[in-house]
Amino acid sequence: MNELTELETAITLLSEGKVVGIPTETVYGLAANALDEHAVSEIFAIKNRPYFDPLIVHISETEEVKKYADSFPEKAKQLADAFWPGPLTLILPKNKIIPDIVTSGLAFVGLRVPNHPLTLKLLSKLPFPLAAPSANPFGYVSPTSAQHVKDQLGDRVPFVLDGGNCEVGLESTIVMFENDLPVVLRLGGLSIESIEACIGKVSINISSHSKPNSPGQLDKHYATRIPIKYNEEVDFTEIDASRVGAIVFDKALPLIPFENQEILSKNSSVSEAAKNLFAAMRRLDSLKLDLIVIEKFPEFGLGAAINDRLNRARG
Ligand code: TXA
Ligand code: MG
Repeated sequence: MNELTELETAITLLSEGKVVGIPTETVYGLAANALDEHAVSEIFAIKNRPYFDPLIVHISETEEVKKYADSFPEKAKQLADAFWPGPLTLILPKNKIIPDIVTSGLAFVGLRVPNHPLTLKLLSKLPFPLAAPSANPFGYVSPTSAQHVKDQLGDRVPFVLDGGNCEVGLESTIVMFENDLPVVLRLGGLSIESIEACIGKVSINISSHSKPNSPGQLDKHYATRIPIKYNEEVDFTEIDASRVGAIVFDKALPLIPFENQEILSKNSSVSEAAKNLFAAMRRLDSLKLDLIVIEKFPEFGLGAAINDRLNRARG
């Protein structure tokens, strides 16, 4: 199929209320018509996702915010102008067009204009927005290629629109507004430094609870099947190092076989490391290993979000 027929296939299926895998710059999403409760309930079923975990609604341009949100605080508008299309989700007061199932009954809806040419084209041709969580079984690592989606959900999803590998590789940064004051609920593909350069100081509330505001905050999330520990937590005299894997920033660790190691950025770029992180976690998780060790990444730029994901995968 060429790109045009693939797009037509996605449009047809989505218009029939079916669920389709879609590419974005952050991670692949599992999309359905956000205004169709039945279509949205299919997403929860396919992902095995609890209904208390609300979905992000994807729109084609900032202009569309007013169709789905009752208000648009000034700082939210500034962020949208600066970073949309891009890896940023804004939590805004929802209006009644958005079904409660999308927001888990919350009075707020997460909106985002994703930065991917195919998906922007798709959104502009559809007469409805797309609810889409990451296209992975609940709790597992998010997919950053169409193949990742097919590997895990291929038999449950009628079609995955292939838009290549995700350029950012981490889910969107989520920002909420409490009395117009910005609060970051999830670290992600847009750095805190970039946000603060635009609107000034923000507070960060990414602490985890068993029933959080933003379930990306769940303590154990983004997890591999193979357990993960920090390298310094491991006593290598007690274990078989040939059955250990590693996810590291820019150079390999001693003792662990080189072929079991994922060096995320040989040029020490945290953005490049972010792009490679989830594919690396998946590759190591497919090997016969007892343990994956990780190290702390630099805490600037996307490094902070990488540390957040690895820490939650560690549980
Ligand atoms: O980059 C992304 O955000 C990707 C792509 C596909 O757009 N989507 C994604 O969706 O990561 P998901 O469902 O895996 O994570 C969405 C997070 C959840 O933790 C959810 O709780 C939070 O967004 N969220 C969505 N709506 C919310 C709301 N109304 N209030 C608070 N948190 C919300
Ligand atoms: Mg997710």
